[in-house]
Amino acid sequence: MTFMHDLELYEIIKSFSGDLVALTGAGVSADSGIPTFRDKDGLWNRYRPEELATPQAFARNPELVWEWYAWRMRLIFDAEPNLAHKALALMEKVGLLKAVVTQNVDNLHERAGSRNVIHLHGRIDEMRCVECGNTVCLNEPPESIPPYCECGGMMRPNVVWFGESLPEKELNLAMELCRSSNVIVIGTSAAVQPAASLPYHAKRNGHFVIEINPDVTPLTDLADVSIRERAGKVFEMIYAILKEEEIR
Ligand code: OAD
Repeated sequence: MTFMHDLELYEIIKSFSGDLVALTGAGVSADSGIPTFRDKDGLWNRYRPEELATPQAFARNPELVWEWYAWRMRLIFDAEPNLAHKALALMEKVGLLKAVVTQNVDNLHERAGSRNVIHLHGRIDEMRCVECGNTVCLNEPPESIPPYCECGGMMRPNVVWFGESLPEKELNLAMELCRSSNVIVIGTSAAVQPAASLPYHAKRNGHFVIEINPDVTPLTDLADVSIRERAGKVFEMIYAILKEEEIR
């Protein structure tokens, strides 16, 4: 475990010559004002997941579940990508990063300019019909709650709830990427499987793991480099360097 300056981190990132994948969690969006789940003010310290984020909760009270997701959508749609999202997007653009694998349902990586984003836990800017599977993109929370599909079926947020499987294609792609790349893990408590075990695939195959998180996590000991700092702060300098190189 090492503590280092942002410039040293940038040198390490460059030394991978593009052989790098980012694994992000709620902490990468914390500096954009989006609440995390397990921090002191985190969502799971204020709300009960079994009442809001399970298929059973949706079957019991779809209005309540939709109200909560509409509130989160509003927060996310009004938020702006921070310097960590922006730096990761530029890193991809200049060939330093292959992909972002995210547990986040927000769209801040895409809005920062990242193109290759793998959403392991779904997307809050989509809803899906529980009957026919039709998926609809959203720029605003739905006007009426719960929303209905043209086929008459009820729509649900297109996110993964507790007790549900992760989308198979995305998970396989994420595992393949992490097995064959160095991984920079940003802002996850590593409390939720299978996402939490992805960095182990990298390590087991001889790759380097970097962690950026103000707190210690179960991944801290595994990481070759651990930077105990906010993501927005760590990427400030890297973003500035990349931006300058882009303009030149
Ligand atoms: P958590 O809330 O569990 O963890 C957020 C992590 O971000 C913590 O380890 C914080 O220390 C760290 N953090 C906070 N602020 C940060 C900052 N500014 N920069 C960097 N790190 C910071 O969120 P996740 O690990 O993403 O699942 O949670 C995983 C899954 O649990 C979520 O995708 C969600 C939740 O239940 C589903 O909704 C399926």
